[in-house]
Amino acid sequence: MAFQRLLLSKILERPISRISSKRSLSSSTSSAAAAAASPVHSPPELPPFDYQPKPYAGPPADEVLQKRKTFLGPSLFHYYQKPLNIVEGKMQYLFDDTGKRYLDAFAGIVTVSCGHCHPEILHAVMEQSQLLQHATTIYLNHQIADFAEALASKMPGNLKVVYFVNSGTEANELAMLMARLYSGNLGMIALRNAYHGGSAGTMGLTALNTWKYSIPQGEIHHVVNPDPYRGVFGSDASAYAKDVQDHIDFGTPGKVAGFIAETIQGVGGAVELAPGYLKRVYEIVRKAGGVCIADEVQTGFGRTGDYYWGFETQGVIPDIVTMAKGIGNGLPLGAVVTTPEIANVLAQRIQFNTFGGNPVCSAGGHAVLKVIDKERRQEHCSEVGLHLLGRLRSLQEKYELIGDVRGRGLMVGIELVTDRELKTPAKAETGVIFEKLRELGVLVGKGGLHGNVFRIKPPMCFTKADADFLADAMDYAVSKL
Ligand SMILES: Cc1ncc(COP(=O)(O)O)c(C=O)c1O
Repeated sequence: MAFQRLLLSKILERPISRISSKRSLSSSTSSAAAAAASPVHSPPELPPFDYQPKPYAGPPADEVLQKRKTFLGPSLFHYYQKPLNIVEGKMQYLFDDTGKRYLDAFAGIVTVSCGHCHPEILHAVMEQSQLLQHATTIYLNHQIADFAEALASKMPGNLKVVYFVNSGTEANELAMLMARLYSGNLGMIALRNAYHGGSAGTMGLTALNTWKYSIPQGEIHHVVNPDPYRGVFGSDASAYAKDVQDHIDFGTPGKVAGFIAETIQGVGGAVELAPGYLKRVYEIVRKAGGVCIADEVQTGFGRTGDYYWGFETQGVIPDIVTMAKGIGNGLPLGAVVTTPEIANVLAQRIQFNTFGGNPVCSAGGHAVLKVIDKERRQEHCSEVGLHLLGRLRSLQEKYELIGDVRGRGLMVGIELVTDRELKTPAKAETGVIFEKLRELGVLVGKGGLHGNVFRIKPPMCFTKADADFLADAMDYAVSKL
């Protein structure tokens, strides 16, 4: 704590980290150069929003925090030095217990896809709740079947069979089980810097020490991450793919069960994979008898803009796709979609999930799919995402501290470094700006092994005005360092 305070005071003593040297500005546009010259004097204002939150009559933040500390496990963590007590949400905005409004640029960790309390999704959930909340799949009910049909219609190739579960972790557990049963092999390949869940099995797939405990991690090989910004081979997909082949040749019997990857790493800090990587690796893995799993828990449902699924950005069709988070807009829902051949391996024993495909979650998830289409959210993500990336890249030209701006659609990362050459993570600075953004009314996420990447993944109804507000707030917050 004392060390952290010392670090912070050092940062605050430092002159403003605005770029002034010729070298740093060499690639900047004249408008960015003009922006660089202009200091930021006043804090930006939230875009207008015609909604009045209800008066809050619940317990204050201190009381909630105390109860959490007493009755909930100590592994729970919270954002911000003074934690936020969020009591209401409407579309892309959240309200705290004082009625203060925030732009939600993190969507409950990339989960509120269509917007907080979206009226059509609420309607579907409430209507079904009044009819029947639960019965399990031992009886027929049309909701699970309709939802599965709608979801399958969104998939390419022969990805036509759906298993519903309750979370991304469960989806990845099931996918790994299918890969092992179908291939008859044990070894799984995953990427370094990946996050696939925290259960005993998926913790093995996850490759960030901050999320791992010393328990048996299974037969998992973590290959070099094809990260164009930090990766050892830059954007050279074939060099990274060779590392996969090396793992198979030297670390396995020459056969593997499968390969799993997020198509843009989420928890790892919005890291895109080197272009062409998945195509090469899928070929290698299939030759070694394995199946290819795309973890679309964060990247699915149009968020990346140009495509509905993240794997489409790499021009591949996986054998198994896992999803959760955005599929339910906040409902506990996950799914695994695969081919009939692979799905069949689970017919050898009973495979059952009490809540998977529950009528309420199915009605809600089905409504999510309809809303995304009706409101043309994929196109919207593409348009607003481009605008946001443009604004953030101008800030990158203005501030040396911003080492990388990356992402697609409304899945964006801003990586802060104290030295652009060495890419030294600006961990403490990220913390200071994070608190400042909250003060200004913007909630973003943090990610990456060193916690020095801002994750911008708002509900997909986030507008260009919201993007401008976020960029202005970032500009203001960085200028005040
Ligand atoms: C890419 C990815 N996969 C899997 C998971 C696990 O999902 P859940 O927390 O719903 O179990 C997460 C959660 O953050 C994730 O980001």
